[in-house]
Amino acid sequence: MFNWSSLSDPTTYIDWRSNRLKAAEMALNQAPVVVSDLSNPGESAVSELKNRCDAANFALYTSVDSGDVSGQIPPVGNFAAAFGLQIAEAHRSADGTGVVALRVTDKAAQRGFIPYSSRAMNWHTDGYYNPTDARISAFILHCVRPADDGGVNQIFNPEILYIRLRDISPDYIRALMHPAVMTIPQNIEPDGSIRPVSVGPVFYGDARTGRLQMRYTARTRSISWNDEPVTQEAIAAITEILAANDPLMMQVALKAGQGILTNNALHNRTQFQNETKDAGRLMIRVRFHNRVQRKT
Ligand SMILES: [Fe+2]
Repeated sequence: MFNWSSLSDPTTYIDWRSNRLKAAEMALNQAPVVVSDLSNPGESAVSELKNRCDAANFALYTSVDSGDVSGQIPPVGNFAAAFGLQIAEAHRSADGTGVVALRVTDKAAQRGFIPYSSRAMNWHTDGYYNPTDARISAFILHCVRPADDGGVNQIFNPEILYIRLRDISPDYIRALMHPAVMTIPQNIEPDGSIRPVSVGPVFYGDARTGRLQMRYTARTRSISWNDEPVTQEAIAAITEILAANDPLMMQVALKAGQGILTNNALHNRTQFQNETKDAGRLMIRVRFHNRVQRKT
C-alpha cells in the first residue's frame, strides 16, 4: 500500500500516481451528482459522492433545493451528517451551528475580511491557521445565490500538487512535511480574543485516516517559512504550479443549489460583482474536522 510520507518506495508511488492522475482527470468531466433533497440525500447520491471524494478529494453536487431568495439557509448540516462529517467548532461567524454565510457585508465583526467582500481570494486550504488538534479536513461550499458576474472558484486536489512537486524533487515533499515549515503568527480577532500562533507542516496525515492533507496559503504577509533553501524552492514551485493553470485544476461557477463537497482541497475565488445590492452572492460554508467517509 502506498504511504505518501515515505519517499523511499518509488514502486508503489508509480502506481498510486497513475491512479490519482486518472481519477483527477475523470473528476473534471463528471456532471454534478444530483441530490434531490439535501436533508435526506439518499443512498445512491451519498455513495457516489463518497466515491468521488475518495478518488479526487472533491465532488460537485446539484440540489433541487436552490436555497431561497429571502436568504434562508439550506439544510447543509443534515447533508453533511450523511458523510459522517464532524462539524468544526463554532466559527466566529457561525450561529453556533458551524454554518457560515459568506456574503458581502459591512458588519463590524466581518468588515475588512476578504471572504466577506467581493474581492478575489488567493489559493489556500481552509483553516490553515488552526491549531494541530483542530485541523480542517473537509468543507462544504454551497451556493444559495451566485454573483451576477465573477465569483468563480478553482479547485485543485492537494494530491495532484504533491505529485507535481514530487516529480520535480522528492526533497520538496520532505521540506514541506517538516513540522515547523509554516508559521502563521498570533492574531487578535475582531472580538478581542487571541488566535494563537500556528506552526506546522504543509503536508500532513489526516488524524484518523493518515491520508494526505494540506495546510497552505498563498498569502505573503503575516506568514513565515522555514528559511532552508530547499523550503524556499519548494514554496516557489507551489506558487508557480498554482499560477500555471494545471490541466487538472477544476474551474467551477456554482449555480444556485449547487455545491462542492471536498476533503479541504486547495481553492481560490475570482472577484465578483453583485448588481442587486441586497440579494448578492450568497454562499454557505461548513467546515469539518474529519474527511468525507469512504464507502464501506
Ligand atoms: Fe476557503
